[in-house]
Amino acid sequence: MSTHAQATVTLDGKTYDFPVVTGSEGERAIDISGLRKRAGIITLDYGYNNTGACNSAVTYLDGERGVLRYRGYPIEELAEKSRFVEVAYLLINGKMPDAREREEWSLLLNRHSMIHEDMRHFFYRFPDHAHPMAILSAMVVSLSAFYPELSQHRQDEGNEAINIAATRLLSKLRTIAAFSYKKSIGEPFVYPRHDLRYCANFLNMMFSSPVSNYEIKPAVVKALNVLLILHADHEQNCSTSAVRLVGSARVNLYAAVAAGICGLWGPLHGGANQMVVEMLEEMRAQRETPRDRLEKVKNSKGAELLYGFGHRVYKSFDPRAKVIKDCCDKVLKALKINDPLLDLAMELEDLALHDDYFLSRSLYPNVDFYSGIVYRAIGIPKEMFTVMFALGRLPGWIAHWKEAREDPRFKLQRPRQVYAGPGLRHLKPQEVSSEYTVTTSVKS
Ligand code: ACO
Repeated sequence: MSTHAQATVTLDGKTYDFPVVTGSEGERAIDISGLRKRAGIITLDYGYNNTGACNSAVTYLDGERGVLRYRGYPIEELAEKSRFVEVAYLLINGKMPDAREREEWSLLLNRHSMIHEDMRHFFYRFPDHAHPMAILSAMVVSLSAFYPELSQHRQDEGNEAINIAATRLLSKLRTIAAFSYKKSIGEPFVYPRHDLRYCANFLNMMFSSPVSNYEIKPAVVKALNVLLILHADHEQNCSTSAVRLVGSARVNLYAAVAAGICGLWGPLHGGANQMVVEMLEEMRAQRETPRDRLEKVKNSKGAELLYGFGHRVYKSFDPRAKVIKDCCDKVLKALKINDPLLDLAMELEDLALHDDYFLSRSLYPNVDFYSGIVYRAIGIPKEMFTVMFALGRLPGWIAHWKEAREDPRFKLQRPRQVYAGPGLRHLKPQEVSSEYTVTTSVKS
């Protein structure tokens, strides 16, 4: 980070200079942290559209050019040539693992894959219809009760303790995700196996049963690796910002990640992958054409969305969507699946990409538009789509939580506001609680 230039703010005839910081890819930002102290005024930025909250070395993103890199590596290259656990290592540790580190990392992930037997009983207390994201967030925060070694607030926590908590979480989230699916279909849990790699292990826990062995197909394992890699980080998105914000109160890793999971669940964020498939299913059930759907969206004045379209930072295209579309074609071909929802999705995409409403608002397919079709092809039910997203995003959350903790400038995150409520007023007698009303009786 360099700080050569200055920006000047003029307010009420007075001028104030602020440093302009430049990131490693030439991005510039005005550091206005001293503005309130010096000029008595704050900045207002609805939805943090234009506010940087930290410096970060994890992910580089250029929304105008459709560029996304983890620790400098293009996601296209990682998706083609790496496995998810290696990318997780990269995000968390800042470098690709060498052969020895890869071996140790796999051993550690295996060693921590079981969950405490008492936690297993929790699953049975959730109602049958419980959304797996509700179960996932509850289970993750519960890990802090079962594995309390990582303290709530100590900043000087040794790297060893943090690394163990991070590995434990990565490994156990996969087990928890598979168990929550088994619970939802009323089948017995399948335990993790040490002879299987991360993605194959997950598929086995999801789809094996006491009466049938699941055949692990390389094309499916590859597709899952690609999807998880593409979801692994996305700099300061809603859920990662939640992890950083909650983490700034110095909560433990599990509590901070549970906050991220809740943020991810929303339909405007990670929950959109479920919404896309539900939208396509609804169109098919109601024999609604893609053209009719687009007209409905356009005439709704913002009430109806085309799920899987639009992004806060990508204004030309989402590079993840391109890789996922390619992955979708490959997996459907390998599994010889002909999904009518894919035809509908492609028709919708084509129409939207030639429609002025979408073009003028820079609305393009995002990561969620085709991911649900890949998940369907590999047998994952739609209620589990956002859980899959969480599984993928976990290394990013951990990397940001860790990076924030290690930053000497990491402060309690506490935005300001512009108050817009009533001015000073006082309670009228009828508004005073009856407990505090003094009654006087007059004797004649
Ligand atoms: N369908 C129809 N119209 C849309 C869509 C959409 N998917 N997205 C945005 N618009 C319209 C808005 O109504 C608004 O129109 P207006 O200018 O006439 O008022 C305009 O485009 C700008 O939209 P904003 O909401 O201001 O854009 P913002 O950057 O805040 O929103 C968001 C980004 C939330 C992702 C939005 O595009 C959206 O809701 N998309 C659908 C949900 C979705 O797919 N989310 C996943 C995002 S990727 C991820 O988080 C993993």
